[in-house]
Amino acid sequence: MSEKNSQNIAKLIIGDRSIDLTVMIDSFDRPAVDIRNLFAKYGVMTFDPGYTSTASCQSAITYIDGNKGVLLYRGYPIEQLAADGSYLEAAYLLLNGELPNRRQFEQFQRETLHRMPVHEQMIEILRRYKRDTHPMVLIESMVTALGAFDTDCDVTTREGRNRVAINLIAKIPTITALALRYIQGKPFIYPREDLGYTENFIRMCFAPSDGAPFEINPIIAGALDRIFILHADHEQNASTSTVRLAGSTGVEPYAAISAGIVALWGAAHGGANEAVLGMLERIGSKDAIPAFLEQVKDKESHDRLMGFGHRVYKNYDPRALIIKKESEKVLANLDVQTEQLDVAKELERIALQDPYFTSRQLYPNVDFYSGITLSAMGFPVHMFTPLFALARTSGWIAQWKEMVDGGPLTIGRPRQHYTGPTQRDYVALDKRD
Ligand code: ACO
Repeated sequence: MSEKNSQNIAKLIIGDRSIDLTVMIDSFDRPAVDIRNLFAKYGVMTFDPGYTSTASCQSAITYIDGNKGVLLYRGYPIEQLAADGSYLEAAYLLLNGELPNRRQFEQFQRETLHRMPVHEQMIEILRRYKRDTHPMVLIESMVTALGAFDTDCDVTTREGRNRVAINLIAKIPTITALALRYIQGKPFIYPREDLGYTENFIRMCFAPSDGAPFEINPIIAGALDRIFILHADHEQNASTSTVRLAGSTGVEPYAAISAGIVALWGAAHGGANEAVLGMLERIGSKDAIPAFLEQVKDKESHDRLMGFGHRVYKNYDPRALIIKKESEKVLANLDVQTEQLDVAKELERIALQDPYFTSRQLYPNVDFYSGITLSAMGFPVHMFTPLFALARTSGWIAQWKEMVDGGPLTIGRPRQHYTGPTQRDYVALDKRD
């Protein structure tokens, strides 16, 4: 960890008390006031609902500069990784801290592909669900169940934790494809060790049920792999923080990742890609954009421009720029004519000239164009968030591993600013008015 220690001190004045607090400086010279002993030593709490100013951990995995629109995995810009790398390379990088050399990559890829099949009994779990169950429920259940089938799971050693990480990264595409084919009522297709990671996933999702030959379109496979790279990690967002919080109790990693899948599902987080497509369908055509934007700006409507705004990015989300280009490429390659892309581009153009959005620094985020792209590839809308979960699994498990590798766990346990009644006496039911 390249954290630079500093002698800087912050002074906290409360009434006539002055408290000295150490200031930590991170790799990019950003200060953080260390308040770890504030309550135990001085009985003082900090108040930060939504954790907008709270660093919950030290991490050397991902860096975001939200004002400049910068995203780095282990120091490497997302644009460079997406242009020339592969998802498995990015996953290796997130887990191990360095890019693999050829031998390391081939070994990682071999082991991942080898671990892709899931136990037959996992399929029985799926069959207990109704066909119209949301696939997020299916994958969340199956990831939890993976722990029960991993009888060799030993997280007390680094080797054991690496093994679990690879097992999760390997099996999540299989689980996601199983969920898709289950909701579509189609027979399952098993992974093959002679295909790449993303190619395997595409085949498991879309190959014909009758075993007829299936060609994988390299443009689609490349675009999907790039989408996976863009979604692989994003520092301490809601789902990753959930993985860390659940993991801090010592729960097994499969259950911690399952908790992250649940947290990702909401429309304010990973569920936004699904919501964007619904919104574009509702708008329908370019003429309807101005009226829609008026509605979004009206707080009484409780409507939002989905795929816009981000807790951390106060500038263009760099992932949105890449995905917009991918979207154009995929639609052109598949010769898909959709008004949705035109509506999305026009919506973006008008919103970025509107003081409501510019003054609040609301820009397109990764989800604005991803739904259009995934839809053109043939994924049903309910699969968008599961695809996000698939890609984010490498980031979640890398973050879990960083926390556990770092030594004894400190359980994540925030305090609260209590606003309820002070102590009072109980009155028996028959004596109350
Ligand atoms: N549309 C309209 N207004 C918005 C939007 C939006 N998408 N996002 C924020 N605002 C407004 C808020 O109403 C608020 O206005 P006010 O100051 O007048 O009250 C102001 O901008 C600040 O908004 P907050 O909700 O405080 O910002 P926060 O950082 O908490 O929220 C969030 C970030 C949740 C992503 C929000 O921008 C949002 O809901 N966006 C739409 C959903 C979405 O696209 N989520 C995906 C995020 S990316 C990801 O998770 C992968």
